Amino acid sequence: MYRFVFTLVLGRLDPEGVHHATVRGLALLSRAPLAKRLLHRRLAPRDPALRVEAFGVHFPGPLGLAAGFDKDAACAEGLAAFGFGHVEVGTITAHAQPGNARPRLFRLMRERALINRMGFNNSGAQAAARRLRRPRGVPVVVGVNIGKTKVVPESEAVHDYVASAKELAPLADYLVVNVSSPNTPGLRDLQAVELLRPLLVAVKEVADGTPRRTPLLVKIAPDLSDEDIDAVADLALDLGLDGIIATNTTVSRAGVSSTETGGLSGRPLKARSLAVLRRLRARVDDRITLVSAGGVEDVDDVWERLLAGATLVQGYTGMIYNGPLWASRIHRQLSRRLRLRGITSIGEVVGRTAPQADTLGG
Ligand SMILES: Cc1cc2nc3c(=O)[nH]c(=O)nc-3n(C[C@H](O)[C@H](O)[C@H](O)COP(=O)(O)O)c2cc1C
Repeated sequence: MYRFVFTLVLGRLDPEGVHHATVRGLALLSRAPLAKRLLHRRLAPRDPALRVEAFGVHFPGPLGLAAGFDKDAACAEGLAAFGFGHVEVGTITAHAQPGNARPRLFRLMRERALINRMGFNNSGAQAAARRLRRPRGVPVVVGVNIGKTKVVPESEAVHDYVASAKELAPLADYLVVNVSSPNTPGLRDLQAVELLRPLLVAVKEVADGTPRRTPLLVKIAPDLSDEDIDAVADLALDLGLDGIIATNTTVSRAGVSSTETGGLSGRPLKARSLAVLRRLRARVDDRITLVSAGGVEDVDDVWERLLAGATLVQGYTGMIYNGPLWASRIHRQLSRRLRLRGITSIGEVVGRTAPQADTLGG
């Protein structure tokens, strides 16, 4: 049904217009106590076997919404009511900024992909903090993803991230340092360990200083070389980070016809994101939480990421092509799969590599 509506109607409308209308609708839902509770009761994961504990945070299910959809922390409750196990808001920057000129979001229907060059359009850390302080009517795990303000030079990047972290870390269930979006000039250079180390050390000091010690993760690009992936993994372990999110969108255009600039997400990213996850797992084993994003479309993809060592999985483009019930459906299917195999906890699946995967039925 959604596919039909998407192909005939939504897919023909301006993608960013549809996006803003959806966020407005979800923001209204987030402020409607009865409606959000009813939806939450129907659609949120409730099978205890789906519960995940990662870096001291309890998630009702492993599949969450990746950063970039709820950039301003406006509708996390509405998204949780539709069945996401967590919502990563942002990327939020210290200063409000408009992002790049429109059009800046493109659908690649045949490839089940998106290209975006939004450029961190958001209303800034203080405005987001005000929204995050509102009392909540349904439980929702909120990750807060922070990035660099575009006009701030690279030499002042640490200060800029720290300003966001001070504002937002106390309000976040976990905090993410995003150094991997392709749409802020110079941002991805911060992934080089010489630059990344002082940045993460400074943000971690802020995160460690909150009353509940906010877990800190770093989000990386799929375009890093294998050596750079290993170097970031080693750094994350060395600094005692809580997790790594892999991956952001790619600048590669392999297998797609569009030449729009920006970050490519969705199906064409799937193989690379999985490869990065496997590389990370080989490097860190279970010493740090891995969160996998990139090209996740269905329950088989989620299963594959769990087997490959991801404790949590995120998606964005998959929801655009599959509709608002996407996360809820996948959680239901996962629940069924666990039951069929006699598995009582999702944790038993995480990191089972190929031979054991077979015994779990793939
Ligand atoms: C329109 C759009 C905007 C995005 N904005 C952000 C962002 O602000 N910060 C971020 O860390 N990732 C952002 N992402 C990347 C996603 O969080 C995710 O890492 C990536 O899209 C791969 O997942 P997917 O293939 O399921 O979409 C964005 C993705 C899309 C499609």
